[in-house]
Amino acid sequence: TPEWSVADAVVRWQRKHGRSALPWQDTRDPYRVWLSEIMLQQTQVATVLGYYARFLDRFPDVHALAAASEDAVLALWSGLGYYSRARNLHKAARTVAAQRGGVFPSTAAGLAQLPGVGRSTAAAIAAFCYGERVPILDANVRRVLARFFAFEQDLARAASERALWERASELVPKSARDMPAYTQGLMDLGASLCTPRRPSCLLCPLESACAARRSGEVERFPIRSRT
Ligand code: ADE
Repeated sequence: TPEWSVADAVVRWQRKHGRSALPWQDTRDPYRVWLSEIMLQQTQVATVLGYYARFLDRFPDVHALAAASEDAVLALWSGLGYYSRARNLHKAARTVAAQRGGVFPSTAAGLAQLPGVGRSTAAAIAAFCYGERVPILDANVRRVLARFFAFEQDLARAASERALWERASELVPKSARDMPAYTQGLMDLGASLCTPRRPSCLLCPLESACAARRSGEVERFPIRSRT
């Protein structure tokens, strides 16, 4: 139908079936959203919940985090793993506190300048906090979109990765208000339905338009020659 849009389908699915009521979803404070996105990069939601609460209890804002010693930050991170995340977090807090008066950058491009904040994390923060109309492409979303487009290029190549970012831009909602649900919805689809093996296509809101599904080759995507 002419009314159907990928963005609307993702937004509606997220509002009904996606993850909700998580503590970082009821705030637009970039400090809190940034902290959650860094913790969620390599760690499951269930594990992050306790660490997130303890971390905010001890470091309620970017000034508190900047004033802490690196050892104090690493102690609260203990058990989460990937400790460079904690060191970058601390370094970024010191930069935001000392050079920006505690105010986070207000765009994805600005956020991406902070240590430990890659393009997709920056875009997620900007979408959640500011409604900025930017695509995301973390590992789960890469799989969703590579399948949706039946993207034949080898994602081990930087040029192919850039081309998929371009395709991702085409799908971004027209309204800034839809950006948080859209962004969370793509992440949730990748985590819950569009899994690496045996994806649950029958439950997917994008099934009718998914090029990989139409060709019956969902598990062939994404294509990656090396890891
Ligand atoms: N992984 C990275 N960001 C996430 C988010 N906002 N929700 C769930 N998992 C995530």
